[in-house]
Amino acid sequence: MTALPGPGPIEVLLSAERIAACVADMGRQITADYRGKDLTVLVVLKGSFIFAADLMRHIDLPLTAEFIGVRSYGSGRETSGVVEITLDVKYPLNGRHVLVVEDIVDTGLTISYLMKNLATRMPASVRLACLLHKPSRTRAPVHFDYLGFEVPDRFVVGYGLDDAGVGRNLPYIGIIEKG
Ligand code: IMP
Ligand code: MG
Repeated sequence: MTALPGPGPIEVLLSAERIAACVADMGRQITADYRGKDLTVLVVLKGSFIFAADLMRHIDLPLTAEFIGVRSYGSGRETSGVVEITLDVKYPLNGRHVLVVEDIVDTGLTISYLMKNLATRMPASVRLACLLHKPSRTRAPVHFDYLGFEVPDRFVVGYGLDDAGVGRNLPYIGIIEKG
């Protein structure tokens, strides 16, 4: 347990070492799968920025990085399923092999909206690399091409994930105590 102003007491769920090993493995797999292709890594802001920065350094291929901002409206820690693109990609994605990098899929509503939206932009392919999944919460089915960890139905912070804006800089992923 460690104390942090904001989220409160945090129980470590995934250590920095476990995350690093998983991200390195995923990067090796992506390198093998995309060899010879023009890869665009599409980082879903904000939560994925640390995962994406680490993952990209384990992808041993020429790639471009693009950023998309998505907000799903909701009260507190629940999504309503109403999704808005708050920052869009500056360059066309048509003909590109797009790898979407997402921090966590909870109900699946946000990512399923985004994947459908991206498919209309005529990319050569769209795949999903996601660090965390809460399978017990699924409301929209999601296909994971690369998945780090399945996690229980608890609110997690750290390694880019926040609770009301706080906790992104923790090097590990931890569970916030209810409160
Ligand atoms: P969805 O329910 O799959 O649409 O998830 C919506 C968004 O809620 C995710 O992209 C995250 O940004 C956020 N989210 C869901 N669960 C957690 C969590 O446990 N910690 C931090 N953010 C979360
Ligand atoms: Mg996210």
